[in-house]
Amino acid sequence: MEFNVKGITFTQDDLVTINLSDIEVNTISHAHYFHFLPGKSKAILLLRAGDYLDKEFVERFKKKGLASLYCLEVTSREEVQKYKTLWGQFKVQRTQKQKLLFRDVILKKVAEDFLILEEKSFLSFVIACFEEFNIYSQDFIYNFQNGSLILYNRALLVSALNSLVCLATDYTDYLFIKDFYNLAFGMDSGFILKEAPNFMLISACEAERKYPGSGQEYLEKNKRSEFEIKKFLNHPLTSFELVSEFKEKFIFPELIEHIKIHHEKRDGTGFPYGLYYSSLSDTETLLSFCDYFVPFEEHHFHKGDGRLLLDKNFQSFTQSSFFSSLPVQHFSSSWQGVLNWSYLSQKAVSE
Ligand SMILES: [Fe+2]
Repeated sequence: MEFNVKGITFTQDDLVTINLSDIEVNTISHAHYFHFLPGKSKAILLLRAGDYLDKEFVERFKKKGLASLYCLEVTSREEVQKYKTLWGQFKVQRTQKQKLLFRDVILKKVAEDFLILEEKSFLSFVIACFEEFNIYSQDFIYNFQNGSLILYNRALLVSALNSLVCLATDYTDYLFIKDFYNLAFGMDSGFILKEAPNFMLISACEAERKYPGSGQEYLEKNKRSEFEIKKFLNHPLTSFELVSEFKEKFIFPELIEHIKIHHEKRDGTGFPYGLYYSSLSDTETLLSFCDYFVPFEEHHFHKGDGRLLLDKNFQSFTQSSFFSSLPVQHFSSSWQGVLNWSYLSQKAVSE
């Protein structure tokens, strides 16, 4: 019998039983968790892969007398650990030459897992990055997750991708990558500062991503309130305030300023300031680069989702009409270089 629960399809054979005491807590879940109603014809989704999983989740079911739950694994602790080990080794490389060599080791593993073999989920890399770099409190993560699953999931993806783009563009300072991971994670957190964002606001974000400058227009067309439009246009500032609360956890707190200008454009058509920059710095555009190629839509982590996240989304971004007007060409060609290299090595293997 095939089940479809909130877009996740599986059969009972795909599930494994896991003892509550064996569930790893205080991290991002590597599996979907289910409970079956008596008769086993209805499954309830308790937690999705990619959600934050804490001690209380397990305690809640223990109190109800349950000993185990059903889980559908998307990745495994072993896969996550492989990436954590790689980050740990990268961290201790001393010379730039060693760092670059080790950078290649990480990118090669990413290419093999998600672009060449295509059988694994990008979630293993996402969890490893979160465990390695995250500085935010549990409350912050919870507010984010409860405020909007779309924004929360997207923050996980954009931040993990950002760390890869740092490597691809020769930013090999571990501490810088850590800061940038957290900037990318928090840059749209301002939407959830006071209340959960509605669907219109998230759609405005997607409109803005697809056609820079069209987010406000989208809200006006849909007759949204002045307050909502302001909230949208000010989100770089509210996100900045929210992330600044974690200032002492940043190695270079000056970088938090980048969040304020992640929607500014060289020609003064951006927001909230409409600044005219003679040019944007490399690191300022680095933050907005991945923001362009990850859509604002629900992503269910699943095996084989790497090509969509690392390549397909990127290709549709580079084919967009506004692509050439953005100051991200440097990052784009480096990332394309990583993709070309992956596919060339794949060809070499199969020949
Ligand atoms: Fe934004």
